[in-house]
Amino acid sequence: MAKRRGDRRVSTDQVKENQTRKTPSSPRYLNYRFVIFMFFSIFIPIVSFYIYRMKYTTTTTTTTTTTLSVYERGLIKPITNYQETLTENFKVSENTSRRNYTYPVLAYITPWNSRGYELAKRFNSKFTHLSPVWYDLKSDGADIVLDGRHNADMGWISELRKNGHALVMPRVVIEAFPNNLLRKKQQQDKAIDLIVTECKEMEYDGIVLESWSRWAAYGVLHDPEMRNMALKFIKQLGQALHSVRSERKPENYLQLIYVIGPPRSAKLQEHDFGPRDLQSLSDAVDGFSLMTYDFSGPHNPGPNAPLKWITATVRILLGATSSSELNLARKIFIGMNFYGNDFLLSKGVGGGAITGSDYLTLLEKHRPVLQWDEESEEHFFVYSDNNQIKHAVFYPSLMSISMRLEEARALGAGISIWEIGQGLDYFFDLL
Ligand SMILES: *[C@@H]1O[C@H](CO)[C@@H](O)[C@H](O)[C@H]1NC(C)=O
Ligand SMILES: *[C@@H]1O[C@H](CO)[C@@H](O)[C@H](O)[C@H]1NC(C)=O
Repeated sequence: MAKRRGDRRVSTDQVKENQTRKTPSSPRYLNYRFVIFMFFSIFIPIVSFYIYRMKYTTTTTTTTTTTLSVYERGLIKPITNYQETLTENFKVSENTSRRNYTYPVLAYITPWNSRGYELAKRFNSKFTHLSPVWYDLKSDGADIVLDGRHNADMGWISELRKNGHALVMPRVVIEAFPNNLLRKKQQQDKAIDLIVTECKEMEYDGIVLESWSRWAAYGVLHDPEMRNMALKFIKQLGQALHSVRSERKPENYLQLIYVIGPPRSAKLQEHDFGPRDLQSLSDAVDGFSLMTYDFSGPHNPGPNAPLKWITATVRILLGATSSSELNLARKIFIGMNFYGNDFLLSKGVGGGAITGSDYLTLLEKHRPVLQWDEESEEHFFVYSDNNQIKHAVFYPSLMSISMRLEEARALGAGISIWEIGQGLDYFFDLL
């Protein structure tokens, strides 16, 4: 959900940009032109400045450091209040390079939220994998192209690499028509070549690939033949990446992490990515980024990712426990949301994802009572807006995150965070 929301925001920005370019050109509009000129050169900057001030003075306080961690400060507990969140969220332990979660930590970063780039630098050592959301593999007529180089920020990557060891693996989403890609060997070779070449030229450590959700949306996974070709394609891509040694670190080869969705029940549907798929790809894929979030939506308001559901999902994927399957847990990056949701409870259906700064603004404005939901093991609160419409807000807390980390630790799995820029500063003390 948060992803789609982000994508949508990019496109409305583009729409706005196109609209602002349309200025009248005939001489009759000369006066209007002057007015428009004044509007753009004076009025807009002043308004933007005030909006900026309002936004950043109320919600983003500069980070301060403390000698104590969030554990030692006694902040991890079910009973808490909005004041504590407001006064503590921007304080982090001074040793930002100390890790406390021993398994791999993959962090997603989105180009439309620059805070993620900053946090990736500040807490660099806490991540083992960084995945900026930069690329699409698209159809271009009958051809296939890799789009997204314009997003790549090489200055940021080189700063990260100066004082950290996280692998930089941009996300690539396959948007190309599956009939075009999966049925034609030549197109697959081209796609693999485009990805491998981009990794070499840009000195990436590999990629995170998302395609299963797209193929499911196109309905091609119902066809056993297409489903097989889909798996085969991922294997070939993995093998191709593994055959290339990293330019920077010749002891490493390029890696592939594959994004998978949570199966909705133990009785798998054809389009579900299940335990057999996990087994069959386990040699070709270095990790599976499991999207265990968006359990609830505007139509069924509730927790973002109940802990029992996360555990059940991982168990379904690992299948019956035997020693070889236990090892596969090491390849799973359990998804954790650093965004929340603000859902309408009365008067129809609505609401959607919110970021950490949206959350802090809501806390300041409504001073709500924070409640701990035993069933999902998430914090939430309820408030009424100016039109007396009730809302429920679920946003992660130190308590909910630390419980999920404990569970992931018990399973021996890594974690993947969507996306770090939406979280509160003190969350990173937990990692
Ligand atoms: C921070 O923690 C790491 C790991 O525990 C340690 O090696 C390092 O010396 C610490 N740095 C400071 C400045 O205390
Ligand atoms: C690390 O995490 C554990 C819980 O898993 C906690 O008890 C401990 O205090 C944490 N250590 C630091 C230095 O934050």
